[in-house]
Amino acid sequence: MPALEDLEQRLGGLDGRRILARCDFNVPLRDTAAGRLEIADGLRIRAALPTLRWLVEQGAAVTACSHLGRPAGTVDERYSLAPVAELLAELAPGIALAENLRFSPGETSNDSAYVEALVNGRLGLLRGASSAGSAPFDGFVNDAFGASHRAHASIVGPPQRLPSAAGRLLHREAEVLGSLRTDAQRPFVAVLGGAKVSDKLGVVEALLSVVDTLVIGGGMCFTFLAALGHPIGDSLCEPDFIKTCERLLRSDANIVLPSDITALDAGGTVRQMGRSLPDGCRGLDIGPGSAAEFDDVIAAARTVFWNGPMGLFEDERFAAGTRAVAQSMADSRAFTVVGGGDSAAAVAQFGLAPYMDHISTGGGAGLELIEHGDLPGLAALRDSPQQ
Ligand code: 3PG
Ligand code: MG
Repeated sequence: MPALEDLEQRLGGLDGRRILARCDFNVPLRDTAAGRLEIADGLRIRAALPTLRWLVEQGAAVTACSHLGRPAGTVDERYSLAPVAELLAELAPGIALAENLRFSPGETSNDSAYVEALVNGRLGLLRGASSAGSAPFDGFVNDAFGASHRAHASIVGPPQRLPSAAGRLLHREAEVLGSLRTDAQRPFVAVLGGAKVSDKLGVVEALLSVVDTLVIGGGMCFTFLAALGHPIGDSLCEPDFIKTCERLLRSDANIVLPSDITALDAGGTVRQMGRSLPDGCRGLDIGPGSAAEFDDVIAAARTVFWNGPMGLFEDERFAAGTRAVAQSMADSRAFTVVGGGDSAAAVAQFGLAPYMDHISTGGGAGLELIEHGDLPGLAALRDSPQQ
């Protein structure tokens, strides 16, 4: 993929050049007491700063753009990037920010007229509008790793029309997550959690062919436990996927499932259970025995990739499993990679972020890169005409 320096060379320097920078500023927001929205976790904004600041240092006139949430192709103030504009103004002064790209239906449908509008600078600006104007851009930078699995207009369109480059974040993410597939040090352990097996079946299969051990917790473990014949009470389950889980469990793959579960019973009491849960009982976290077993597996690893919480960690009663996995990774000598919005947020919440080797800004993007070995956004940059 072309790097920032390649773009600089191609444009004969960046001083005064108008650069469109696609970032993934799709950050979690929360309501404040004052009835405003504020950023709950700014990881994705901070992670884009090295690229944005470098561009500004070279003298480029930078307009950043992003989507936020999933507005239905119309202007919807709840999904405004205004809270992001505020933080960005503090962290990287002098950068213009476009309003949510998904306010236009052309973004997700990858409409060519919308791509034309983008590269010609016809976008709604939140900040710096006067200096940025609406003239065509000279170059494009994709630093939106977290959105590069989407073949959307702002990801795959500009590289066909403008001199383009991968930003620092995109480069590093593609390198770290891409290399997990091909040259991870062994033992290589993947820890998967999150609610749904159906979302992760592709990556489960891909991971099974490259990891030494796959540890499964979170809501998705119950479909696997059901496949082993355990009653799972009222826990999350995807009956349509039990057969697939049975097949995966029958294969040679080394899959580790929880041996105990922290559950909420019908009377609202938190209970420590084994693998079998009676009716009315809902499993919401892995139990302490499982946390210790997962710790043994993680401690013996040389590479660990983790995506998806082990339980409902937003609720302190069901946070222990997720905290334990984060702690095991922090204590591990392995090269540790945390992928996914929820796992990254959990690691930050527990104060363990500094102990991880790589915290990815991509959830789905990281999983798809591991599964397919490529992403539409990366391919678009590689295919971007270089002359
Ligand atoms: C994400 O948060 O996963 C990315 O920003 C992509 O968002 P999307 O899943 O709505 O396309
Ligand atoms: Mg380490």
